[in-house]
Amino acid sequence: MRASRIRFLFLWISLWLLVGWQDSPSVMSPNSEQAREINNLWIFMLVLGTIVYVIVMGLLGVGLLRRRASRSEVETTPPPRGNTFIVVSGVIIPLVILAILFVFTLQTMAALSDEEPKPLRVQVIGHQYWWEVVYPDHGVITANEIHIPAGQPVEFIFTSADVIHSFWVPELNGKVDLIPGRTNSMFIDEVDPGVYRGQCAELCGLQHAKMAFYVYADAPADFEVWLTQQAEPAPLPESGSLALEGQQIFLGSSCVYCHTIRGTNASSRLGPDLTHLASRETIGAGILPNTRGHLAGWIVDAQSIKPGNQMPPMYLESEDLQALLTYLETLE
Ligand code: CUA
Repeated sequence: MRASRIRFLFLWISLWLLVGWQDSPSVMSPNSEQAREINNLWIFMLVLGTIVYVIVMGLLGVGLLRRRASRSEVETTPPPRGNTFIVVSGVIIPLVILAILFVFTLQTMAALSDEEPKPLRVQVIGHQYWWEVVYPDHGVITANEIHIPAGQPVEFIFTSADVIHSFWVPELNGKVDLIPGRTNSMFIDEVDPGVYRGQCAELCGLQHAKMAFYVYADAPADFEVWLTQQAEPAPLPESGSLALEGQQIFLGSSCVYCHTIRGTNASSRLGPDLTHLASRETIGAGILPNTRGHLAGWIVDAQSIKPGNQMPPMYLESEDLQALLTYLETLE
């Protein structure tokens, strides 16, 4: 009995440590000015909470030991009235601590909400179950992979096309909801170069757990190259090539009812913009590496990979599928 309890406790503590102290994504490794502010507040709360906990437990211990020594004495003494110790420790001290926390929290909130216009705006639109990413000042639309220049301020503008989602990159900032018919915003600054995993943090349906995305904080020069390249229309396949055949299959099938490929007639925004699909590292909202095999599986039967998503199965002859894949691979 005792051994099993100890084992359970050990398991519980290890699980807790694993969840809390993994490398990425982790709220404990802040990589932006805003995340550092949040982290500082959290550490302050943790230290304050630990001090209070140790004092309370210490007093409890003292009380328990004392009472045990003189039980008969306690039973005969009437309880004290108007004890100032109780008033101070139970009312005044907690009020003071909460007031200090309140002030620090307000300071952090003020630091997070910067109203100055930022040089780069990124609009993120939540969909069941993927993220549409628009750079409104640069004519760029992409999905699930957000590139930003490291070290420079960025403003995010959030809205939703269907239900409420929540944008959360633990290493960069707190959560912000994406609400239909409403616009929310978030600022990040001084982001360290790197790749940060984000996750939808508001239950939005069957595939909420598989609604991931990545933020790439590139060197500013690399970001400019990426942005310029993303603003271009899709490259045209050479005449007589397999890719051209694939393009005709794409344009002649139901793909065009949901997807855009800039430079062709496909211009629907129900599904992700595919103009530069091959430049992305993942498909299906951050859940699969963008390889030919995964892409083939996704096109043929996305429902078996991510049940409940909006992509219907596609019935294609195998040669047509190969041509289509070849075309999609040219969309860099
Ligand atoms: Cu979108 Cu959960």
